Amino acid sequence: MARPQDHFSYAPGDTARRRSAMIISEALTSAESILATNGIVEARREAASLLMLAIKRDKTFLYAHPDYALTELEASTFESFLQRRATREPLQYISGVQEFYGLEFEVTPDVLIPRPETEMVVEHAIEILKSRATKRFCEIGIGSGCISISILHSVPDATAVGLDLSTSALNVARRNAEKLGSIERLELIESDLFAKSSGERFDVIVSNPPYVPSDDIEGLQPEVRDFEPRAALTDGRDGLSIISRIVEEAPRFLTSGGFLLMEIGIDQSTQVDAMFEPGIWHSPEFFPDLQGIPRLVCAELI
Ligand SMILES: C[S@@+](CC[C@H](N)C(=O)[O-])C[C@H]1O[C@@H](n2cnc3c(N)ncnc32)[C@H](O)[C@@H]1O
Repeated sequence: MARPQDHFSYAPGDTARRRSAMIISEALTSAESILATNGIVEARREAASLLMLAIKRDKTFLYAHPDYALTELEASTFESFLQRRATREPLQYISGVQEFYGLEFEVTPDVLIPRPETEMVVEHAIEILKSRATKRFCEIGIGSGCISISILHSVPDATAVGLDLSTSALNVARRNAEKLGSIERLELIESDLFAKSSGERFDVIVSNPPYVPSDDIEGLQPEVRDFEPRAALTDGRDGLSIISRIVEEAPRFLTSGGFLLMEIGIDQSTQVDAMFEPGIWHSPEFFPDLQGIPRLVCAELI
């Protein structure tokens, strides 16, 4: 039977074509053991992901061709990916991408890696905006752009302003908006919360603010603690200070009957509930994530 490598011809000195001694089955086994030794739980699956990335092939190829000998370039790329992952660098920073709400987002160490639970913010915002005549929203802390761009993708006549303290995060958001075709409808501004916004009022304000209490950072997984941007994770205090500033400032930037949608952390719902002053806000609603944790707060301005 012909092996994949039989189909290649390669010139001496050409690392992109010259075969290494590493074949897929052995590469997977040794990578699995290195990753497991370094505390990675799903070591076999992650070894396969890194290998697919290094050789730019899919899972079917991996399992159909266990004897495929990697080229020298593929082998050295794989080694370098493996070393990075063994230090607990997240797979997404190695691949440079993360899927969110059915779209593929570029991610770099300048931005938080989009999480599945954050899709709740997107779903609720889409539902509200679709029922509105004007569909103008604002995001505080846009990061990679995953929330705003997903909303813009699903609501074609919506427009948005995305704010973030981090210029490098805004650059990632810009590239994602360009790639995913929503840059014309998204204005990006470097700003501490609403400080640099024009003062206009929005139908909806969305945010996934940094809500991890600083005391909890040490106990996080190394992937999060050592690699994701600290300013995206925590306010450096009790985890509630930015949430509280947003609740306080939002009424000046929402239309009457406008909504504030925010992701919140574990055990924060009681304190967050108390931040919404009756007389200014209707009573906020809390929505649980798949683990039953109140994860999304949705409040309507009176
Ligand atoms: C938890 S991340 C969310 C990123 C993205 N929206 C997501 O859901 O994946 C929080 C973001 O808020 C930004 N941020 C932190 N403090 C801020 C502030 N005071 N004003 C504006 N943005 C801020 C961080 O730079 C980071 O990009």
